[in-house]
Amino acid sequence: MSELTRLPAWQQLWEHFAEAKQLHMRELFESDPERAERYALEVGGLLLDYSKNRLTDDTLQLLMQLAREAGLPARIKAMFKGEKLNVTESRAVLHVALRNRTNAPILVDGDDVMPKVNRVLERMGRFAHAVRSGEWLGYTNQPITDIVNIGIGGSDLGPLMVCSALRPYAHPRMNMHFVSNVDGAQLKETLKRVHPETTLFVIESKTFTTQETLTNALTARDWFVQRARDEKAVAKHFVAVSTNQQAVADFGIDPANMFEFWDWVGGRYSLWSAIGLPIMLYLGEENFVELLNGAHLMDQHFRNAPLEANMPVLLAMIGVWYINFYGGGSHVIAPYDQYLHRLPAFIQQLDMESNGKQVMLDGNPVDFETAPIIWGETGINGQHAFFQLLHQGTHISPIDLIASLENRSSLPGHHEILLANVFAQAEAFMRGKTADEVREELTAQGVTGEALEKLVPHKVFGGNRPTNTLLMSRLDPRNLGSLIALYEHKIFVQGVIWHINSFDQWGVELGKQLAKTIHAELSGKSGPAPHDSSTARLIAAYKQANGR
Ligand code: F6P
Repeated sequence: MSELTRLPAWQQLWEHFAEAKQLHMRELFESDPERAERYALEVGGLLLDYSKNRLTDDTLQLLMQLAREAGLPARIKAMFKGEKLNVTESRAVLHVALRNRTNAPILVDGDDVMPKVNRVLERMGRFAHAVRSGEWLGYTNQPITDIVNIGIGGSDLGPLMVCSALRPYAHPRMNMHFVSNVDGAQLKETLKRVHPETTLFVIESKTFTTQETLTNALTARDWFVQRARDEKAVAKHFVAVSTNQQAVADFGIDPANMFEFWDWVGGRYSLWSAIGLPIMLYLGEENFVELLNGAHLMDQHFRNAPLEANMPVLLAMIGVWYINFYGGGSHVIAPYDQYLHRLPAFIQQLDMESNGKQVMLDGNPVDFETAPIIWGETGINGQHAFFQLLHQGTHISPIDLIASLENRSSLPGHHEILLANVFAQAEAFMRGKTADEVREELTAQGVTGEALEKLVPHKVFGGNRPTNTLLMSRLDPRNLGSLIALYEHKIFVQGVIWHINSFDQWGVELGKQLAKTIHAELSGKSGPAPHDSSTARLIAAYKQANGR
């Protein structure tokens, strides 16, 4: 038995679950007119309504007791103090330092990291200003109009999601492009849309060893040099963001054109670091700083608010309730905002790469579920695609419905329809529709007798399906910063409860290793290596198709 499953609160939650699982949210709302008031929380420009969950006061009290027994308050302090929580890599976990707007010292190995954080932020600001103002010129003295970000995973998804989300704040001259896939199609299509004289390539890689990124970067460099016919022009069109100065220099980018970050910033937590350079280039320094301010606001709340009124803690513990007790292994992110269409993909990496783990910090296997499968899509599109399963399928998948109160599109009528759907879905998931209600509805439509009874079971909605509704006052840099930090901390809390290391990702390594061997075989650099018969047959099919 793990330490977690031996905790008194864990045992008590199981006892409580035996009764709680019978509850229907309809009854919880009927018996408590104050429920919506009591189960809501505001932080900055974010309002969380968590009332449409299968929870009572007892559930919440036990979940918070579990958080305490699992040592959450001490772990929160440890993160903010710069302790090396990432034990398998012996690294601190300090994305919070990148947005530490108070500038209070944070020490790693006795060194205050704040001066270097600020130094890089200032450099980024100066560079972004030069590019945006047109002071930074390309090799034919033209201002930059297109930024191509080359990176993958955390070196792609964060900047991509933020740039998409805040597009209305973008510089009118600037076009943003993201290339992550080593499938040459993405780079090829991007290069068709840009001009070498006015394009800036930002090569982003924490390690600067990622094969997909280096391959794309080399191809982009060749494309550029063939057109500029001058190696020296590279300095005006290629910059790098990395923790690995040597690898950047070896690649041929002048270290003067490199923006640095540090090993205590995890890739999926790195958009606040120099990895945010494309964000700053596109949106400007002020908006980037607002993003940091919003995240800092959430950091302060997370650090100081009591657990019971702590937004990330509430979201995390409600998640634990479903994952570990109801056995709900999936979680849906449904933004009702077109600008947030990449949020599900971003949170998918954040959560699944952080908490998709099967051993605890001490190396022993877990005897409980860990990270859920995160998936999603813009809510309104999901309604016409997969929401059928969420309403009437056999899985329980809690859903986060995320929307903005302020209308940002100037087109009349659209926002009301959008928001009406958010509220209607949350209501439908909670209430469902009983057999009696279905009968009443069908009778009113003139359906009777056997025909009616045949239809009833198909039209019944069980309801009682959990949702969190997150409303932003508006989708602006500050609120987006708070929203992202909210999910980062939620994931941190769940990792603490499960006693896992949320900050390594060894699970991605095996595929990388095997791909190297197979790549050598496919490209003819090495002869056949030993494989299982399926892999060998697939390799043979490729070779035959490509005349190798
Ligand atoms: O393969 C997974 C991963 O290491 C992610 O954790 C990371 O965000 C991504 O690859 C990119 O890594 P890098 O920034 O070092 O190129």
